[in-house]
Amino acid sequence: MSNTQPALPEQDRPVATMAGHWLLAKLGKRVLRPGGRELTQRMLEAARIEGHDVVELAPGLGHTAREIVLRKPRSYRGVDSDPAAVAQVNKRLGLEGAVVHADAAATGLEAESTDVVFGEAMLTMHSDRAKQTMMAEAFRVLRPGGRYVIHELGLTPDGLPEEIKREIQMALAKSIKVNARPLTNTEWRALLEGAGFEVTEETQFAPMRLLQPKRIVADEGLGGALKFAGNVLRMPDERKRVLDMRRTFTAHRDALIAVGIVAVKPAAPSE
Ligand SMILES: C[S@@+](CC[C@H](N)C(=O)[O-])C[C@H]1O[C@@H](n2cnc3c(N)ncnc32)[C@H](O)[C@@H]1O
Repeated sequence: MSNTQPALPEQDRPVATMAGHWLLAKLGKRVLRPGGRELTQRMLEAARIEGHDVVELAPGLGHTAREIVLRKPRSYRGVDSDPAAVAQVNKRLGLEGAVVHADAAATGLEAESTDVVFGEAMLTMHSDRAKQTMMAEAFRVLRPGGRYVIHELGLTPDGLPEEIKREIQMALAKSIKVNARPLTNTEWRALLEGAGFEVTEETQFAPMRLLQPKRIVADEGLGGALKFAGNVLRMPDERKRVLDMRRTFTAHRDALIAVGIVAVKPAAPSE
């Protein structure tokens, strides 16, 4: 694994319009998913990585990629739509091209070529129609019996009124500069079932506390948390954005939640 890092994504964009996750990455934050490291670990357990072929959609900076590789899969491949992210992961993990630059909606991977598709904090960033296309693509590349494991932003409770959902979506878009569209557990499951998956395991939940100090320490370690806090204090434009994001998450903390779902591609019917 190399120490010299390629550039982070979007660092040439003005701070005011940079996507929230790349802004946090610029400030030294490494865990960029709503349920944090703890929900990632639970979902990796549920994915049953060891000895299986694994595709990760949207590895970002490659922190979950590292966890996957440590769990000894038979093979690891990744797909990210950001070329700088692709370069980061290949370089950091010495993966030599295992991560490719493509859209999760059209990965270019062979049909029925993997046992596990793992993806965190990516579907949420897209419209429901795009989510459906990406789920269909995950279905295509999985072998029958394969597992599609997601860790995304959710809304609770299931019956949350539509106008509140819209209000939250607008607040997120304004603050993180990404059209985030979180869904309720029932909505996530319905989309997965619509793509042909079976969801038989209970959804896993975690509080959405991405920017709360306790979670930052749990995710980044004390040293990482101090480095992040130091950067936030030193950089006023970035600080303004981070505080705005934190205010938005706090304002909607009762409705925002992290969800982890295991969806299974049904095994081929026996002859
Ligand atoms: C919030 S980051 C999450 C990164 C990583 N999964 C994590 O949890 O730390 C979102 C990632 O999704 C990638 N992404 C967004 N849309 C994508 C798409 N349509 N296809 C592939 N990757 C995509 C971005 O480039 C970025 O790396």
